[in-house]
Amino acid sequence: MKILMVCLGNICRSPIAEGVLRAHALDVDLPLMVDSCGFERYHLGVAPDKRAINVCKTHGIDISGLRQRLFKVEDFDHFDKIYVMDANNYSDVKRMARSPKDMDKVAFLLDVVSPNKNTPVPDPYYGDSFDFENTYQLINNACMEIVKSLIASHNAAK
Ligand code: 4NP
Repeated sequence: MKILMVCLGNICRSPIAEGVLRAHALDVDLPLMVDSCGFERYHLGVAPDKRAINVCKTHGIDISGLRQRLFKVEDFDHFDKIYVMDANNYSDVKRMARSPKDMDKVAFLLDVVSPNKNTPVPDPYYGDSFDFENTYQLINNACMEIVKSLIASHNAAK
């Protein structure tokens, strides 16, 4: 299973989501390939925002080695599931889609906990450490749910 997390900058929300989901999958030996990317070129190749690194660190997760990259059309082929953080990310991904089939893989991350609501993960970039903690908690809840449902479907297939 391959999962891609997408936000605008790929320096706050999606790298947090990548690190958190990978950590939860590792905890339960779930084979999962996780990556993240964004649409904004300004931070190309750089590490996540220090505040994103710090909030993950306080929860025992190291995302300092991640590097920013852009979404590319081949991501539709490579990944089984593509999670976006908000409606702008959804539109950005949709603009790159070659067919409606590409968009079948795309979902709002928080829909895994509140289905069909398209609730956004708030962008903490212009916020403070409380905003980063809030974002972390929302992402963490969703990632725990993803791992739970993947384990359930893995067991059902046995
Ligand atoms: P992210 O936050 O999408 O959660 O990574 C942002 C980080 C940087 C910018 C926008 C959003 N930016 O425009 O520089």
